[in-house]
Amino acid sequence: MTRLVLNRQLIEDHANPATVVLDLIRQRQGLTGTKDVCREGDCGACQVLLGSMRGGRLRYQAVNACLLPLGAIDACHVVTVEGLNGESLNPLQRALVDCGAIQCGFCTPSLMMALTGFFLNAETSNEQAAIDAVAGNLCRCTGYAGIKRAITRLCRQFDLAGSPPERRIDNLVHWQILPAYFSGIAEKLSAIAPRDAVEQSPDAVLVGGGTDLWATRPHWLHTQSLAFLSDSADGVRFDANDCIVDAAVTIEQLRTSKLFRQLFPSVTQDFELICSAPVRARATVGGNLINASPIADLAVFFLALNARLLLVSHDASRTVSLKDFFRGYKQIDLQSGERLQAIHFNRTAAQGFSYEKVSMRRHLDIAAVNSALGIEHADGRIVTARLSAGGVAPVPFYFEKTCAYLQDKSIAPATVLAAADIARHEIAPISDLRGSAEYKRLLLRQLIFAHFMKLFPEVIRWEQLHARQ
Ligand SMILES: Cc1cc2nc3c(=O)[nH]c(=O)nc-3n(C[C@H](O)[C@H](O)[C@H](O)COP(=O)(O)OP(=O)(O)OC[C@H]3O[C@@H](n4cnc5c(N)ncnc54)[C@H](O)[C@@H]3O)c2cc1C
Ligand code: FES
Ligand code: FES
Repeated sequence: MTRLVLNRQLIEDHANPATVVLDLIRQRQGLTGTKDVCREGDCGACQVLLGSMRGGRLRYQAVNACLLPLGAIDACHVVTVEGLNGESLNPLQRALVDCGAIQCGFCTPSLMMALTGFFLNAETSNEQAAIDAVAGNLCRCTGYAGIKRAITRLCRQFDLAGSPPERRIDNLVHWQILPAYFSGIAEKLSAIAPRDAVEQSPDAVLVGGGTDLWATRPHWLHTQSLAFLSDSADGVRFDANDCIVDAAVTIEQLRTSKLFRQLFPSVTQDFELICSAPVRARATVGGNLINASPIADLAVFFLALNARLLLVSHDASRTVSLKDFFRGYKQIDLQSGERLQAIHFNRTAAQGFSYEKVSMRRHLDIAAVNSALGIEHADGRIVTARLSAGGVAPVPFYFEKTCAYLQDKSIAPATVLAAADIARHEIAPISDLRGSAEYKRLLLRQLIFAHFMKLFPEVIRWEQLHARQ
């Protein structure tokens, strides 16, 4: 049984825990404001706000209801557009109407959820951040100009910088962005008694965020025993020289982690191109690595950090190098009964680090080719290099030969050109929807150039590389 607050009301539902919240809302509760379209996380038309108590505070995120199983939302608050509506239009709805951001209106309920999620979470009223927050919402009518105008108006109207996280819900109620009942939700959720622990079957399907499982095998999951991995409270931490990332941390938690940003100052922008905001809010780092997609962005990122995986079972644990973890297309070194608990890497690996991704669409698209490079250097020479790429082999790929070549070479255009040439012969890309094999080889070369130009702008410049190709 799942107990939750749906908009204003406490409900209990006995459906199979694999049932998605989209079906609960539309079919079982008759709330049809949330739209049912692709059921794969791509269109964003099914977004709801998911609120839960974490660290003593009620936090909300806009998520895709088509990829959200009931088993993951016990003691949560699910908000649909019906739960935001009041007697008259609220300021977000008014801005969308006034700025011509609505034509057929099909995407509008979800847009409302994404925008409300932005106002609940953003540190400041930054327009670009608001646009990024709604990048997971496809609109087939407006051309997006009206939506951008509405965002500009709202960001000028409401100053989030003066609204601290612990006061945010009350502030939004005061500004009439949220209905007054939101002020009583924390108390309602706290009153839901914790579920008794249930003995998990050893062959239960492990569920992280469920974004891959429910996008690819929703019907099969109804026949399985499911083990929902709990949210990560302690997502990123430092221990001596290591950085440790909990496998259950979501990509969005990692993107916005203060500790992770200390190591990778551009991570907030870099990871914006991974999935979309509502998918990132659920997708875990562990799920991304276990999926072993040849273009998995985090696999490529962590490979170039020489990361190690901590794998645990009920009575044992072991550590494997991420480089050795990927065995073949979607084949990994994970034994029955094991789960990925954490990813470890040495913090010094974050110095001299570059990550790049090229996709056909800028937002909400998987990579044609992605790549990361980590370099330790001294006195103008490379001490060690760690290069990885996705989309160029059946697995997220680590360039052993190119890295061996780079060791002890001077940082100079000739070195970069030679490395790019070795790398292009180390890979075996295939032609597919994202580009021909030759195009991917070319992209890889350009990304290697981009890494070096970014890391060593004084000595490696585009004109030098271009002139000598
Ligand atoms: C619309 C959309 C866009 C996407 N875009 C991108 C993109 O741009 N870049 C990209 O890299 N990826 C992208 N993805 C893939 C996304 O990153 C993965 O779906 C996600 O990271 C999987 O994490 P999850 O927690 O949701 O996994 P789940 O769906 O919960 O699980 C996936 C698999 O991992 C297993 N698993 C999960 N956690 C563990 C664990 N701790 N130990 C052992 N096994 C575990 C599960 O049993 C399952 O087999 C996209 C996905 C969607 C739906
Ligand atoms: S229905 Fe398209 S993202 Fe959920
Ligand atoms: S207004 Fe028609 S899809 Fe956005």
